[in-house]
Amino acid sequence: MTSSDWQSVRRLGKLLEPHRSSVCLALALMGFSSAGLLGLPVLVRGMLEGAAREQPPSAWQVGSVALILSALAVCAYVSAVLLNVVARQVCAQLRSDYAERWLRSSMSAHRRVPAGEYAERLNTSLADVDWFIRGSLANALALFVLMSGGIVMLFWISWRLALVIVLVGPLVVAALRGIERNGRAWLRKGRGEAEKMAGVLQSMVLGLDVIKSFNAEDEAMRRFGTRQSALLETQKKESLVTSLVDPLLIFAGAATFLLVVFFAGRLVAAGSLGLPQFITFLVYLMFVLPNLRNLGIQIARWRHVKTALDFLDDSAHMPPETDAGNCTLRVSSGQIEFRDLVYRHAGRETGLEGVNCTIQPGEHVGIVGESGSGKSTLLSLLLRFYDPCGGAVLVDGQDIRECTNSSVREAIAYVPQETLLFDGTIRDNLRLAQPSAADDEIREACIAAQVWSFIESLPAGLDTETGDRGLRLSSGQRQRLAIARALLKKAPVLLLDEATSALDPKTERLFASALHQEVSGRTMLIVAHRLAAVADLPRIIFIDDGVVAAEGTHRELLARCREYRALAGADA
Ligand SMILES: Nc1ncnc2c1ncn2[C@@H]1O[C@H](COP(=O)(O)OP(=O)(O)O)[C@@H](O)[C@H]1O
Ligand SMILES: [Mg+2]
Repeated sequence: MTSSDWQSVRRLGKLLEPHRSSVCLALALMGFSSAGLLGLPVLVRGMLEGAAREQPPSAWQVGSVALILSALAVCAYVSAVLLNVVARQVCAQLRSDYAERWLRSSMSAHRRVPAGEYAERLNTSLADVDWFIRGSLANALALFVLMSGGIVMLFWISWRLALVIVLVGPLVVAALRGIERNGRAWLRKGRGEAEKMAGVLQSMVLGLDVIKSFNAEDEAMRRFGTRQSALLETQKKESLVTSLVDPLLIFAGAATFLLVVFFAGRLVAAGSLGLPQFITFLVYLMFVLPNLRNLGIQIARWRHVKTALDFLDDSAHMPPETDAGNCTLRVSSGQIEFRDLVYRHAGRETGLEGVNCTIQPGEHVGIVGESGSGKSTLLSLLLRFYDPCGGAVLVDGQDIRECTNSSVREAIAYVPQETLLFDGTIRDNLRLAQPSAADDEIREACIAAQVWSFIESLPAGLDTETGDRGLRLSSGQRQRLAIARALLKKAPVLLLDEATSALDPKTERLFASALHQEVSGRTMLIVAHRLAAVADLPRIIFIDDGVVAAEGTHRELLARCREYRALAGADA
């Protein structure tokens, strides 16, 4: 056992700690059952010695062996059930811990971790932990009892014959360790490749329309094939190493058996070993030799569970979101101020370079700028997805960094640029904003978002399944549902990030003015790079080069600002 083995034992111990009474009982039953099995050959030896004296075994002898066997089987059954339940509970707990950790992680960490690879790794790790607790924990104990007890009994019956095992044993152990060390390294590499493969598969599933539109099935298949070959290559190398375990153990077992028979023949001929003794010796040898193979399997499983526990521990360090604020944001009027706001994404040299502007309570403001100018980033800072590198965001005069994340987000309803609906019904999707919303409220929000007539036209209405990521709806319908979801929240501040981009400019303009009426009295920021969505708003903020380059009405900006005119020109 190396220090990394002990570390894994400690990690496993921590996972099993809450279930210690079940685990202890299961192991005790399994230990008892294995110890009972060890005792059986002694009883059988009695029968053999009787047979040697030409006395057939009595019904009592056979009956008691049968009774002991049944009791041992019941113990093994109860032990297996207990460990199965514990394994499932440990994995359920781990799964919820990781789901929770994912939900609480910071947005920047979240955007760095490839989701498909992470999910694949989590699933295999959980499967390995489950498998180990169910299959290996009791098995390892039974192996230990049977093999060590068997060896003791072998020495007890004939120490001279047993010495043969002592000669072969250390050689086998040394070889197994070498295999285990190499095998684990290849296993890790194989896991890495399997995760990349899962990532490729996931993008293939998500981007099927793109692939088809470019007639890129062959290219996608080629990329898939490259990953697949890399995976197979690593798995092949792993197999070359780990497959050595079985033949090695079979060879060692057979060699030991031959040596034992060779020496036993001489001892029996010399009269220093009786035949019943020899047969009992062989029975105990059967506890030890075939189990060598089982030992190999358990070693392989240990290798897997160690890798799994390493991963689970690494991901436990996924940075959580900072939530240092300890005040609750109290929104009285909904004024928003961006004060000297500076933000650059990690590894980027440009970003927001000092944004200054104030949005008055109840004001509806358009935020425009070229794509990539930082509009979505500005909204992300208001939502505290990221913390500014300089300056501050204030809501009703309170620096949001000093407030809890949940109170900031409570005050804001947000429609993200990339509309995502979750798998489920339309009602489930809308209720994410307000789980207790009644159907009347949902209807009201949907009417305001101009999506109610569409919902009514569906045979199942609000109970219509939206399909994975809402793909059974058009993008315009998805966007309107996302707006309805935000309206349902009835928050004092509403943020729309290119939320009507799927509509044609004329409908978009009409939609924007209807929305303007609908949310009068509440602060609303409408981000757009197409001007139809904001042209009728009383104030537009134009962002260029990471600063507020100009502000005013659409007409004023057209008259005053050349870059804005360029944007409008591109739009026309
Ligand atoms: N998670 C991210 N990591 C690194 N850079 C990012 C990230 N998100 C956005 N950016 C970069 O920040 C800049 C502003 O992006 P964004 O705010 O999305 O622009 P807009 O919404 O105006 O189109 C872009 O240059 C973009 O490449
Ligand atoms: Mg954007």
